[in-house]
Amino acid sequence: MPKEIEKKFAIYKDRVNQYIATILPPASAGEAKNLYEPIRYAMEGGGKRLRPVLLLIACEAFKGKIEEVLPAAAAMELMHNYTLIHDDIMDRDATRRGRPTVHCKWNPDIALLAGDGLLTFAYRSLLRVNSPHLQKACQIFTDGLIELCEGQSYDHDFEHDDGVSMAQYLDMIKRKTARFFAICTEIGALLAGASATHTRLLRRFGESLGMAFQIQDDLFDITVAQEILGKDFGSDVKRRKRTFLYVHVMTHGAPEYRARLQRIFHQAEISAADVLHAGEIFRDAGALAAAEQALQEYLQEAHDCLKRLEPAIATAALHAFLEMLLKRRS
Ligand code: IPE
Ligand code: IPE
Ligand code: MG
Ligand code: MG
Ligand code: MG
Repeated sequence: MPKEIEKKFAIYKDRVNQYIATILPPASAGEAKNLYEPIRYAMEGGGKRLRPVLLLIACEAFKGKIEEVLPAAAAMELMHNYTLIHDDIMDRDATRRGRPTVHCKWNPDIALLAGDGLLTFAYRSLLRVNSPHLQKACQIFTDGLIELCEGQSYDHDFEHDDGVSMAQYLDMIKRKTARFFAICTEIGALLAGASATHTRLLRRFGESLGMAFQIQDDLFDITVAQEILGKDFGSDVKRRKRTFLYVHVMTHGAPEYRARLQRIFHQAEISAADVLHAGEIFRDAGALAAAEQALQEYLQEAHDCLKRLEPAIATAALHAFLEMLLKRRS
């Protein structure tokens, strides 16, 4: 990635963090400690800030001003952190961004409330956008987040369903993850005053990159060490998640692999050794390679959306964003 774009992403990340600090009450206020301490802990614990940066560069591609859409970008990150806190409760995970999850450091009651608080702060931030398109932006945001809840609901229900098809899996990740990236690119373009056609293309771009992102996340669960990933290694296997890897083996794998994976997933307790065994099955049955290929195909779709904008629209930063995703290890 060109050095100047890398620098731009780092600057945008800082700008987002600074803006978020203006939305949350200052620590010195000392109010409602059990609400604000976990909220600050979540927001100050690192995180790639992908969604707000994506919104900013989508806006900039259509000559929108960063300063004017910072509240919208911050809203994306606040909302994202809400989803992570609640997701970690649902997934029973102990580690996030290399530190204890909010529900483990405090308790589930406090984590639920911290999530509720962040959701509300996200709307406080979004409502600070001064634009004739604000109502439409709120609508895209709200509708997309309803889909995210639907996706999380499927993700949860699939834990008990042996017959999840690849189509059902793809629909689930579109809702739980890809839609959020699409919200960011669509709102970025909308607030910059892009045409309806261009805004739709940006939405599709966000959705395709979001699909690639979640398939990559499924892969990392079993291929990247916990110290690098910053999240519980093998959590998806332990929670019997119907990830790309699981669904691929169960729909394309040889009977022997399917039987072995079923045996692991049907055990009352899934041990660390079972997780490693599942990883071997994923590799030997070709699921890791298939996931790599599927994510490349979604990235290609994202590239194709950008091609349709060129040369009228400057897409270098959006291309660089895809490149950055491909290189990530956490
Ligand atoms: C994690 O998102 C949740 C998924 C959709 C897989 P990120 O990987 O963007 O999390 P942070 O914000 O950088 O920690
Ligand atoms: C995340 O899916 C989706 C949302 C947070 C809505 P995962 O459960 O796979 O995300 P990680 O792996 O815990 O970050
Ligand atoms: Mg999770
Ligand atoms: Mg989850
Ligand atoms: Mg995951």
